Amino acid sequence: MSNAEFARWMRDTQSRTETALAAALPEPSIAPARLHEAMRYAVLGGGKRVRPLLVHAAGEIAGAPIAHLDHAACAVELIHAYSLVHDDMPCMDDDVLRRGKPTVHIQYDEATALLVGDALQTLAFQVLSNHAVSLTPSGQLNMIRLLATASGSRGMAGGQAIDLAAVGKQLSREELEVMHVHKTGALIRASVLLGAQAGNMPTDEDLQRLDHYAKLVGLLFQVVDDILDAEADTATLGKTAGKDADHAKPTYVSLIGLDESKRLAADMLAEAHALLTPLGERANRLHALADYIVHRPF
Ligand code: IPE
Ligand code: IPE
Ligand code: MG
Ligand code: MG
Ligand code: MG
Repeated sequence: MSNAEFARWMRDTQSRTETALAAALPEPSIAPARLHEAMRYAVLGGGKRVRPLLVHAAGEIAGAPIAHLDHAACAVELIHAYSLVHDDMPCMDDDVLRRGKPTVHIQYDEATALLVGDALQTLAFQVLSNHAVSLTPSGQLNMIRLLATASGSRGMAGGQAIDLAAVGKQLSREELEVMHVHKTGALIRASVLLGAQAGNMPTDEDLQRLDHYAKLVGLLFQVVDDILDAEADTATLGKTAGKDADHAKPTYVSLIGLDESKRLAADMLAEAHALLTPLGERANRLHALADYIVHRPF
C-alpha cells in the first residue's frame, strides 16, 4: 500500500464518518434547538477521527460489512467528542480552544456543555443499538458492553478522575501509565475491538494480537499527546499548547523529559509494528495508522 493510497483511504473514511455523524445527530431545527446546535458544533467539522479510522482498519481485517463499521465508528467518536467537551470545562482542564474553535462552554455556556456531553454519550449507545453492527445479536450486545466499559469509571471516565486527582503531584511511571491507559487508551483499544467484533476475526490468536496492538497504541497515543502539548504551537494543535505544564499535570514529558518520551514512543511504535507482522498485508492500514499516531501534526 503506497502512502498515496493510505492518504486516500484516510480521507474517504473520515468523510464517511462525517456523513454518519451528521446523520446520527439531531438537526438543529429540532427542539431543543440550542442543545442540538451545540451538539453538532462539538462533533462536526473537526478532529482527526483516529478512533473511527481504527474501527474501519480493524473491521476490514475481520471482514465486517462497512455499514456496521460506519455505525461503530460513529458511536466511538460520539463518546470521544463528549469526553473532549467535558475535559475542556472549567472544572476540568479549563480550556478555551478545541479543534481550532472556541470550546463548547465558551461558545455556548457551561450548562449547555454539560448537557452536550450527556446527550452525546447516550446518543452513542442509541447508534450502537438502533442499527445492526455485528453479525449476531450476542455480538452486538458484546459491542455495546465493550464501549460502555471503555467509557465508564473503569475506562475513560476513571482515567479522567485519576488525571484530576494527580494535578500538582509527582506520579510514578507505573501510576502515569495507568492514568494514560484509562483516560485515552481505553477508547482507542475499544475502537480496534469494535471493528474486530463487527465482523469475524479469523482466529482467537489474531484477535489477541490485535488487542495487544490496540493496548499499546492507546498508550502511545497519549504519550504523543503529551509531547505535542510541550512541543507544538497552539495554531497547529487547534488547542492551547503548553497547558499541561501550566496546569501542573503529570505527563510523560514532565516525568521522563522530552527526549526520553520520544525514545519511548519510537520503541512502542516498533513494538506495535512487530505485533502486526504475523497478520501480513491485511494489517497494512493498522501499520500505517500506528505511524500516523506517532508522526501526526496535532
Ligand atoms: C485529544 O484526542 C484528546 C486525547 C485523548 C489525547 P485527539 O487528538 O484524537 O483529538 P481530535 O479528535 O483529533 O480533535
Ligand atoms: C484528554 O487528555 C483525555 C480525554 C479527553 C478523555 P488531555 O486533557 O491531555 O487532552 P487534550 O490535550 O485536552 O486534548
Ligand atoms: Mg485532560
Ligand atoms: Mg485537556
Ligand atoms: Mg493533552
